[in-house]
Amino acid sequence: MLTEKDFIATTYSSLESANFEWSAPSNIALVKYWGKKEQVSSIPGEKSEQIPANPSISFTLNQCKTITKLGVLKKSDTKDFSFDLLFEGKPKEDFKPKIQKFFERIEVYCPYLKEYHFTIDTQNTFPHSSGIASSASGMAALAVSIMSLEKAITPSLSDDYFNAKTSFLARLGSGSACRSIKGEVVIWGNHAKTANSSDLFGVAFSEVHEYFKNFQDTILLVDKGEKQVSSTVGHDLMHNHPYAEQRFGQAHENLTAIKEVLTSGNIAAFIKIVESEALTLHAMMMTSMPYFILMKPNTLEIINKIWNYRNETQIPVCFTLDAGANVHVLYPSTVKEKVMQFIQNELVVYCQNGQYICDQIGTGAKSN
Ligand code: PMV
Repeated sequence: MLTEKDFIATTYSSLESANFEWSAPSNIALVKYWGKKEQVSSIPGEKSEQIPANPSISFTLNQCKTITKLGVLKKSDTKDFSFDLLFEGKPKEDFKPKIQKFFERIEVYCPYLKEYHFTIDTQNTFPHSSGIASSASGMAALAVSIMSLEKAITPSLSDDYFNAKTSFLARLGSGSACRSIKGEVVIWGNHAKTANSSDLFGVAFSEVHEYFKNFQDTILLVDKGEKQVSSTVGHDLMHNHPYAEQRFGQAHENLTAIKEVLTSGNIAAFIKIVESEALTLHAMMMTSMPYFILMKPNTLEIINKIWNYRNETQIPVCFTLDAGANVHVLYPSTVKEKVMQFIQNELVVYCQNGQYICDQIGTGAKSN
């Protein structure tokens, strides 16, 4: 079992300059991560950051991704972190504090960072402020680019270690980002019934039935505004939440159940778990103190339309939600034509400016 100590780079060489380019996708959780736990690190004196209070599982997406180019140049001093940040080709000062914080968090594991000046040039394939969290894909793309540098100066790194440490670093940037390195289904968080599961990084779950291959996710953009509540604040509200312990226990049970469902291809059971998880996530928000509602009237309109359509047609289509008003419509590719027709005829009217994004299950980060 890998511990934090195992992720500290100790012997490495150096290089003068290099360029790396990676894309990493977003992911959509089926069993949700909501709440962090305090934990002492295996590194003396350190506190572990971004440790989930419960395990989660997600579909890795394919189209919604971040493409990051990392330029690396050896510098003469090792005093500070040094980087330029470009977003869609233009300098983006307001993203810099997040990257600075990320570098500070991962420095203990990547002690070579201050030896280099970095140019980070990043872009998303999905529209900016579409309400789609770019932190998962963005942090995954940055983490894997940094690991390319580590691999270049440590040629003996195994693929398994590369993947585990990439996910480990991505987690320190944004928790759910650790589920965006691999595909098609990833589990993150200690789970008694999942061998090799870890709070520190995501692991691929490979026993997935044919039925879920090419599974579709059409993301209906109900509200493209800025998030009312950051996920950092949201996670924090699970401390002293009256239903927290019950919820964390339920997530363990739902993960056990959904693994079985993903393996057997039982779509009816899949729908029950996934929709219940989405509503439970929002129920936790509504019952925290302070309380908040991230769904919009159109979110509920869409949910009701999906339920009616499923009842009338028996077509296995369901929804899930992130920490926002947008609706992810999930269905197998075999019913794609019918469901797209339904979306266009009945659901697009509830989307802001009629916008939606067609995505599907994918395989994770790629070197370009
Ligand atoms: O990665 P964060 O800290 O932004 O948290 C994301 C939490 C949810 O998207 C709401 C659920 C999940 O498991 O992805």
